[in-house]
Amino acid sequence: ASDARARAREAASLEELEALMAGFEACPLRFTAKNLVFADGSPTAKVMFVGEAPGADEDRIGKPFMGRSGQLLDRMMATIGLDRSSAYVTNIVPWRPPGNRDPTPQEIAICRPFLERQIELVDPDVVVCLGSPATKTLTGTKDGILKARGRFYPYLLPTREIRALATLHPAFLLRQPVQKRQSWRDFRLLRAALDGKA
Ligand code: URA
Repeated sequence: ASDARARAREAASLEELEALMAGFEACPLRFTAKNLVFADGSPTAKVMFVGEAPGADEDRIGKPFMGRSGQLLDRMMATIGLDRSSAYVTNIVPWRPPGNRDPTPQEIAICRPFLERQIELVDPDVVVCLGSPATKTLTGTKDGILKARGRFYPYLLPTREIRALATLHPAFLLRQPVQKRQSWRDFRLLRAALDGKA
């Protein structure tokens, strides 16, 4: 099991990484999930969105952000000219937690080498952390999401430093639409960063 994680660090392609994850049995989530939810979008994208965990729709279809949160994410991406042919979308854990509970810190830690290698292989200029678990996992910040959102954090790839932008999770925006305004601002910051203007 730890061997698969060690080998993941050396996976030469996204296909190889996905195959390693499909055969990985040390994360208990895989035994209650229907499908591995690896990723969606373009593997050569300059921007990568990282959510929390698959829900029921994603688990059934085998792709991330397929339900209501995904529809909102697609609309937000569209406002800055992005879609799933120009962005890459994944989650910090690739299997649905039972009953949509939050993934535990242990489950997140077990899956983390897979996520890190996925980021290296996509090699984006910006990683967008959707919500608190993704933000904490990828930036190490202890700040709450309402404080972190709209901030860029350094993210180290083996050969260069890129940026991780914290923003609110679309599921949170569905519950608290009043927060959307701030999120539009975050997305404009993202657009400027991708254009090399911020
Ligand atoms: N919420 C997430 O964080 N990820 C998904 O893929 C769907 C909903």
